[in-house]
Amino acid sequence: MYDLYAEEILDHYKFPRNRGKMDNPDRVYHDHNPLCGDEVTIMLRIEDGRVKDVKWEGQGCTISMASASMLSEAVKGKSLEELRTWGKEHVLDLLGIPLGPVRLKCALLPLKALKAAVWGLEGTEEHEET
Ligand code: FES
Repeated sequence: MYDLYAEEILDHYKFPRNRGKMDNPDRVYHDHNPLCGDEVTIMLRIEDGRVKDVKWEGQGCTISMASASMLSEAVKGKSLEELRTWGKEHVLDLLGIPLGPVRLKCALLPLKALKAAVWGLEGTEEHEET
């Protein structure tokens, strides 16, 4: 059962979805894991209070990169209001495998960056939420 999830994780790691740059994102946030130096930057295009598009860049372990890729697919079309309620269970659901405390930090790195972007921390531009 977990093999299927592991395959999916590897697939996202090898063929990351939505990875790349975005011109003039409405929100951008960069975060890193101080323990290993891995990093993720999340860029959001927001329209009518929803995520119209998302891109991310980063480098890191299989779990952190797969988590960023999976999250990027999951957030498209979601409202900022909804995303503010997302927590680690969303990421764990996406990954589908149990994780120890170290791997959990890997998995949650992209979520931390996403949440900060959603809350508008270090936003590149003021953007009116409607
Ligand atoms: Fe650095 Fe996973 S080892 S985030």
